[in-house]
Amino acid sequence: MSGDIGADLGQRVVTAVQNAFSVDCTIEDAAVRPSQREGVDYQINAAMALAKRLRRPSREIAAEIASHLEMGAMARTVDVAGPGFINITLSDTWIGEHTARLAADSRLGYRPAAPQRIVIDYSSPNMAKEMHVGHLRSTIIGDALVRLFEFAGHEVVRQNHLGDWGTPFGMLVEHLVDEGLDRQEFSISDLNEFYREAREKFDGVEGFADRARARVVALQAGDPDTLDLWDRLLGESKRHIEDVYELLGVKLGPGDYKGESTYQPVLGDVADELLRRGLAEWSEGALCVFLEGFTGRDGDPLPLIVRKRDGGYGYDATDLATIRYRAQDLKGDHLVYVVGSPQAQHFALIFAAARKAEWISPETTTTHVGFGSVLGQDGKILRTRAGASLKLTDLLEEGVQQAAAVIADRTDLNEGERAEIARAVGIGAIKYADLSTDRIKDYVFDWDRMLAMEGNTAVYLQYALARIRSIMRRAQAVPELGAPVAVGEGAERDLALVLARFPDAVDTALRHLQPHRLATYLFELATTFSSFYENCPVLKSEGTVRQSRLALAAHTAAVLERGLGLLGIDAPERL
Ligand code: ARG
Repeated sequence: MSGDIGADLGQRVVTAVQNAFSVDCTIEDAAVRPSQREGVDYQINAAMALAKRLRRPSREIAAEIASHLEMGAMARTVDVAGPGFINITLSDTWIGEHTARLAADSRLGYRPAAPQRIVIDYSSPNMAKEMHVGHLRSTIIGDALVRLFEFAGHEVVRQNHLGDWGTPFGMLVEHLVDEGLDRQEFSISDLNEFYREAREKFDGVEGFADRARARVVALQAGDPDTLDLWDRLLGESKRHIEDVYELLGVKLGPGDYKGESTYQPVLGDVADELLRRGLAEWSEGALCVFLEGFTGRDGDPLPLIVRKRDGGYGYDATDLATIRYRAQDLKGDHLVYVVGSPQAQHFALIFAAARKAEWISPETTTTHVGFGSVLGQDGKILRTRAGASLKLTDLLEEGVQQAAAVIADRTDLNEGERAEIARAVGIGAIKYADLSTDRIKDYVFDWDRMLAMEGNTAVYLQYALARIRSIMRRAQAVPELGAPVAVGEGAERDLALVLARFPDAVDTALRHLQPHRLATYLFELATTFSSFYENCPVLKSEGTVRQSRLALAAHTAAVLERGLGLLGIDAPERL
């Protein structure tokens, strides 16, 4: 049995339809939805679609399904209503037992599907500069997806596809040499500044651009001195991104780095293979892959460029090598790319080419997890007030400071607690603002909204959890997860039914790779708990009622903690 009530009912409808009409129907056809209607818990909406197929009145069909539904002790009433809805009211006893079962389960009722090997590309910043806000989104969304996949029992292979190769590095290495930094130990405190200086020289200083280009050639030819300087520059860049990862607390480390440079040695082989398979052709001096159905704005065919006219390999070629590696060497069942929406067409081309080259088996799934931009209050891409591109470490530290200001006058917290809370609340606010909106959309970065105590924010959820923990501390003897629950009051019943939807929230977030589905659910859970707590005294109640309410509170805490954890958000013990 599935832990999710909706899925369970769906399964029962599928069986009932089969038994009543000897026709097949899927769990989607069953169309079971939680109901907002007073006194109705779930509504089944299968009859309308079936009526067309079977050429019979939908109300009749609904009645037939209802009479074949074997609900046992699960339902109190099963009613046919309107043109053919089936309304289900669950039995209170059953809800209590079900809640206890879910609470006792290590995944809180979630039933994993067959495990897969997931290869996920996320963060993947360009190394010549400091990370920008777009990479922040990829890092946060990717991290949440990794946590969700792992929770669902999948094997996850993280790939940080660092942009660590190509033209910018020729420029930077040459700039290093110009500054005489090549002969000494150096550290670059401000990578953006360093990049800007190099760029200025590239555009203004005579001869520099040519020398920079010659450096790229030297780099690609494996010149040892150039490689050494490139490697040292890369070390500096890695320090910068690691600061960001550390502050964010994401699951990404050096073991996950697989930059563009790693694919350099095999690019020639990829080009040869594509030629051999008849997929690539020469066009105006460049080696291209043309695929049916891909055209540019002007309507001309849009190719992938395997080898440029000057003999060099670029972003397309590297991604072709990358997907071949992920499918054939890493043997991923599902290849996921968390990259901004502007690259949608690039990935559509890469996926189509990889399929055509038969690098990917028909069972393998490929997904581009696109996302929108982070906007400033002015509705434009987020920048500093001075208009410079924003440094992520500054942004994250500002979040921690803003959060510290919110709790500044709390005398009940010591220094250590304050620091821990400021970090969890500040970083949590940034992550949650990102993860609680549909990733495809742009969102406006607004500290006040992100740190609001009321509304769909991280701190609201963190506070809800801290409050429940405090209730449990005061209760002293808290029943174990899985202890008996009785839902006498409406607010208890409502809370139990929302708790039962956790498996569905995780499943939906995973199926659509949309963390905001889980965030929306957690917010609903927190508000439902809040009305439960207003209507049903917990500590002041007695006997089995008190035990049952404490069990509901403990279960809510477990789901909130688990849910926030899946989003990569820490919850301080006290708040
Ligand atoms: N470095 C790229 C950028 O900043 C993103 C790389 C995404 N991953 C990939 N396999 N192309 O735009």
